[in-house]
Amino acid sequence: MALTGFFLVVFLLVHCYINANVLFSNPEENFNRAAHFMGSNILIRIMEIGLFLGFILHIVQGYQLEIQNRASRKSRYAVSAGNKTSKWYSRSMALLGTLILLFLVLHLVHFWVPSRFGGLTEVQYDGKTYHNLYAQMQDIFAVPWVVVVYLLGCFSLSWHLLHGVQSAAQTLGITSKNYYGTIKTIGIVFSIAVPLIFALMPLFVHFGWQINTGGVSLLF
Ligand code: HEM
Repeated sequence: MALTGFFLVVFLLVHCYINANVLFSNPEENFNRAAHFMGSNILIRIMEIGLFLGFILHIVQGYQLEIQNRASRKSRYAVSAGNKTSKWYSRSMALLGTLILLFLVLHLVHFWVPSRFGGLTEVQYDGKTYHNLYAQMQDIFAVPWVVVVYLLGCFSLSWHLLHGVQSAAQTLGITSKNYYGTIKTIGIVFSIAVPLIFALMPLFVHFGWQINTGGVSLLF
């Protein structure tokens, strides 16, 4: 779980970086160009297969672990320790993970399916044709309940990561006093910052907000 989780963390970082183009001025062209680079790069397309396998493995292992944990919690102790021995988010990894899974299915239907199987409009920059994924975002995030579902998805992701990153560091044995504090801090910053930046995207697109950079892409 730690290894597949770590791989997914790297994916989230790249995904967040590319998509953050929608927060700045000239979002349509900057984001569409960046997404096109990712979509047309052969290495990235090969990694996409790994990504989907990584998600499936992480989800299957997660449910297996939850079943084992439930079985051992029931049988070992006559008196339940209740909430005292673990934090809420560590006991709720399966619940939060399931919410993220539901979010992910909806999310792939919104963007990945039309991007790979057709249904996106096209736009031209310097005589070259690009998928207009930004227009798709505007359509999808025009609907208020969808924006709310995305915000809930990002919130669940944040809680899930808060536990996951620290837990992965322990599993991989990075627990020596020197490193543990640093890893924990990086984990907390990542778990809050990345979902927060993701959460800004549906809000910015819905309300038409932009951070003015004079049209220049700072990110790509
Ligand atoms: C909340 C803000 C988010 C926005 C606006 C967003 C937007 C997008 C877009 C436009 C695509 C299509 C890219 C393409 O086909 O070239 C995409 C793909 C994808 N997104 Fe997101 N995303 C967000 C958050 C997330 C989160 C939190 C996750 C994971 C938990 C995630 C997982 C994925 C996956 C797995 C794909 C397919 C990967 C691929 O195309 O290779 N996204 N997203």
